[in-house]
Amino acid sequence: MILITGATGYIGSHTWVELLNAGYDVVGIDNLCNSNIKVLDRIEAITSVKPKFIEMNVCNSNALKSLFNLYSIDAVIHFAALKAVGKSVNNPLEYYKNNLGGILELTQVMSEKNCFTLVFSSSATVYDANNPIPYQEGMPLGSTSPYGWTKLMSEQMLRDLEISNPNFSVAYLRYFNPIGAHESGFIGEDPLGIPNNLMPYITQVAIGKRPHLSIYGNDWLTHDGTGVRDYIHVVDLARGHLKALNYLMSGKGSILVNLGTGKGFSVLDLVKAFEKASNRKIPYQFAPRRIGDIAAFYSDSARAQKDLNWRAEYDLYRMCEDSWRWQSMNPNGYE
Ligand code: NAD
Ligand code: UD1
Repeated sequence: MILITGATGYIGSHTWVELLNAGYDVVGIDNLCNSNIKVLDRIEAITSVKPKFIEMNVCNSNALKSLFNLYSIDAVIHFAALKAVGKSVNNPLEYYKNNLGGILELTQVMSEKNCFTLVFSSSATVYDANNPIPYQEGMPLGSTSPYGWTKLMSEQMLRDLEISNPNFSVAYLRYFNPIGAHESGFIGEDPLGIPNNLMPYITQVAIGKRPHLSIYGNDWLTHDGTGVRDYIHVVDLARGHLKALNYLMSGKGSILVNLGTGKGFSVLDLVKAFEKASNRKIPYQFAPRRIGDIAAFYSDSARAQKDLNWRAEYDLYRMCEDSWRWQSMNPNGYE
């Protein structure tokens, strides 16, 4: 049995579907602080499997113990975390408590119950922004936000845990920018309130919820002056988790990899691809640079290819098509 924490969230739900399609027995947990219970019906509609789900907080040690008593859990994929970078600056303690508390309680209960296999959601945000691009796994780390620090500190905690208990094997997966949605249009990204991230903002402009996109800066040192990122289809990302799980379960030890496409696209590249895929115009205005942004980053994805035999398959157009299908079939997300 595989346990997914943060299972009803954006990446968790897509990973859940891929695991069920691959024949895994899965139990999901989530406290629904940033996701919707309706995800469960959608997962069932896609996979024809009724998902096993328990609503609980991953920081609740007693609830975790009961869960491990109820199911014989072989491995955990840990997504549960708060992820809004800006909010983490204003509410740092909430982020440290939730994200570090979650990993602490989880790994403590795992140790107690002899479950030593963990896939951990890390982020490209752990790389020092002064690194040259593409980012490679061995490059210097650093962070500019409490959110980023929770990921860096979690990585460190897990490394120390591995040293103290060599039974543990951990996959540290550093995601770049996940966008897109399942091809069915049944599950996708459903942000609360005004989206902070580019793709959900674009889809909400396309559906008429927002008048225009603000592009943060047109004077970056990039090919067209707008920020460059490594956008990766969420289904490719989910499949990377399956590869990582198989790697750990085959007893090869721990692994640290970037999950990205290895290609950078600008904001304007994404807008153009989206307009083509959706056949809609995206009105935009240039606005000042967003505090904390950098010009460009993308992954070196060679290690994931070599060690996990994984590479992203979907291109930018497909990411836009799937994001648009999700948004147009669900103008109000899951509501
Ligand atoms: P998401 O918010 O959609 O999913 C996270 C889920 O965790 C939510 O359903 C939320 O309700 C749940 N959760 C949060 N705290 C919890 C707690 N204490 N107990 C139980 N459930 C809790 O986010 P996502 O985009 O699916 O991200 C998944 C993971 O990937 C997170 O750890 C995030 O930091 C990491 N990540 C995301 C991105 C991205 O751009 N989406 C990039 C890099 C890393
Ligand atoms: C986000 C996260 C970061 C994480 C990374 C990869 C934030 C603030 N940061 O950053 O922690 O590591 O994803 O998952 O959430 N843009 C606009 N207009 C908008 C929104 C964005 O022009 O309305 C631009 C940004 O300036 C940037 C690009 O679009 O150049 C992508 O932005 P975004 O989707 O927020 O991702 P990141 O900034 O990479």
